[in-house]
Amino acid sequence: MQTVRTIEEVRSIVRSARLDGKGIGFVPTMGYLHRGHTSLVEHSKKLSGFQVMSIFVNRIQFNDAGDFSRYPRDLERDLAVARDCGVDLVFAPGDDEMYRDRRTFVDMELLTDHLCGAHRPGHFRGVFTVVSKLFNIVLPDVAVFGQKDIQQAVSLEKMVMDLDFPLKIVIAPTVREEDGLAMSSRNKHLDPDERRRSLCIIRSLRMAEGMIASGERSARKILSEVKKELSTGRPDKIDYASLVRYSDLQPADEISERSVLAVAAFFGPTRLIDNMIVEEREGKFSCVY
Ligand code: PAF
Repeated sequence: MQTVRTIEEVRSIVRSARLDGKGIGFVPTMGYLHRGHTSLVEHSKKLSGFQVMSIFVNRIQFNDAGDFSRYPRDLERDLAVARDCGVDLVFAPGDDEMYRDRRTFVDMELLTDHLCGAHRPGHFRGVFTVVSKLFNIVLPDVAVFGQKDIQQAVSLEKMVMDLDFPLKIVIAPTVREEDGLAMSSRNKHLDPDERRRSLCIIRSLRMAEGMIASGERSARKILSEVKKELSTGRPDKIDYASLVRYSDLQPADEISERSVLAVAAFFGPTRLIDNMIVEEREGKFSCVY
């Protein structure tokens, strides 16, 4: 595995891999790698012969300076994890390499109006900008993102389509701890009490799944029960519990062909998000979370 810090080095190594006839798979990360990240690499390996991972804590997507400085970092450990899961090239740039005198940003209408977009001003502009830059640097054939950050993943699918990036976005299922908590670098910040209370999130998704399986379609009714279940974990704040259409992430009154039920809540200072995709196939609804 090679580790580089400059755009020029990435371009040259990726060019050689292409000349060797390899397709380029890409997993962008902010580091502090866990099994969620390694599963993205596993997905990418099935689709391409040369694996690139970026590790860059992207200052411009943090709407809260405290959150940025608290974000966990451990590059040495990350490099060992990346090597073990078969990454070929890690791009770990510094701030100066990525942002010199930045004046250009990538932004999106509609899909960022709700969910995290409504609660984290500027967050998605920062994500779209850095991901666009990374796509232009790495020039991957396929880029893999996790379902846990569903608004990010769906919006990036849209960005790739709108801006004609010549690559395919793959959304890989959320990887969970044994008790159901979605893996996240932020879980490290939970104290034992917050960690225990955070399980109300998975309980609320499972409960919604049960309601949908019994034929309930009303967003109002499902979300009211989801919020009740969430409150059993005494979250310090619920940012949202929403049902949106997958296609444009706009609020939906009813479960439709393809919907997303998404929640965000604070346990102490730590904000956790989770979601499930509800899909209708041959008259039957399935929930993926
Ligand atoms: O999901 C993340 O870790 C980040 O938002 C990403 C895609 C690496 C951009 O900084």
